[in-house]
Amino acid sequence: MNLLEVEKLRIWDGHSGNVLVENSTFQLKQGSCLAIVGESGSGKSLTCRAILRLNNNALRQSGEIRFQGVDLSLLDEREMRRRRGKQLYMILQNGMRAFDPTNVIGVHLRETLVHHYDWNASEITEKLKPAMLSVGLQDPIGILNKYPHQLSGGMLQRIMIALAIVLEPDIILADEPTTALDTVSKFEVVEQFIRLRERMGGSMIFVSHELGVVRKLADEVLVMKSGSIVELGTTADLFSNARHEYTRYLMSSQRMLNDRFQQLMGGAGIVGR
Ligand SMILES: Nc1ncnc2c1ncn2[C@@H]1O[C@H](COP(=O)(O)OP(=O)(O)OP(=O)(O)O)[C@@H](O)[C@H]1O
Ligand SMILES: [Mg+2]
Repeated sequence: MNLLEVEKLRIWDGHSGNVLVENSTFQLKQGSCLAIVGESGSGKSLTCRAILRLNNNALRQSGEIRFQGVDLSLLDEREMRRRRGKQLYMILQNGMRAFDPTNVIGVHLRETLVHHYDWNASEITEKLKPAMLSVGLQDPIGILNKYPHQLSGGMLQRIMIALAIVLEPDIILADEPTTALDTVSKFEVVEQFIRLRERMGGSMIFVSHELGVVRKLADEVLVMKSGSIVELGTTADLFSNARHEYTRYLMSSQRMLNDRFQQLMGGAGIVGR
């Protein structure tokens, strides 16, 4: 069953008329992880944000985005807000940007949860504690009382994952959640995503430059180039039999990077097979 159906999505700049994403059609099956890969500027983030209707006002979009059969483009903003977070949950590349720098982490988490659940402050803390421990965040209370800048990028991503565990969203959209992290944190955060999927059987759209990560996590892969989908298939198919020249190019450049990394490290890289 398809949980999300994107049909003929088109995104353009309302001022210049420049088309940024063209004729994009794909589906996300219930319980499945779809990776979106492609070079910088190919339209991956615009596509994710278009699903949540979070693109900048200057941008226009057309086409259908059906979530559980409902066309999201027909909903008013209030209805849409109700769906963000609880049903469609976005994890961003840069954890620091996802949090308000002037508040401690706990305030952000509580505000998000209060929006969707009828829990009081201590109930929220009780829900968050085990979720935070389960993603390797020791001392949850201490962390809830810290400001974003007092925590590392990897910790902030784990906090976003812990929040997802509590929210149990229908779809997680993760836009390069590991790109800004160092190698060790990247490895750990990917492990947490794998566990999150195992635990929630969650449906996920996972944007990544890193094909090794994609291979570990995704069931299907969508390859974008200059705003268009150039290839779409199962992860196994794509890795063994990429049809489009651009996909093969992406894979060979990734392999070279990986080999170089392994040479430098003198051991196994994280982009494992
Ligand atoms: N608000 C905007 N107004 C006009 N053009 C935009 C806007 N946001 C993005 N773009 C352009 O749309 C194209 C796609 O951007 P997008 O952010 O989706 O790329 P991406 O695939 O996510 O790249 P990256 O891997 O670097 O994150 C780029 O050429 C970008 O310059
Ligand atoms: Mg992007």
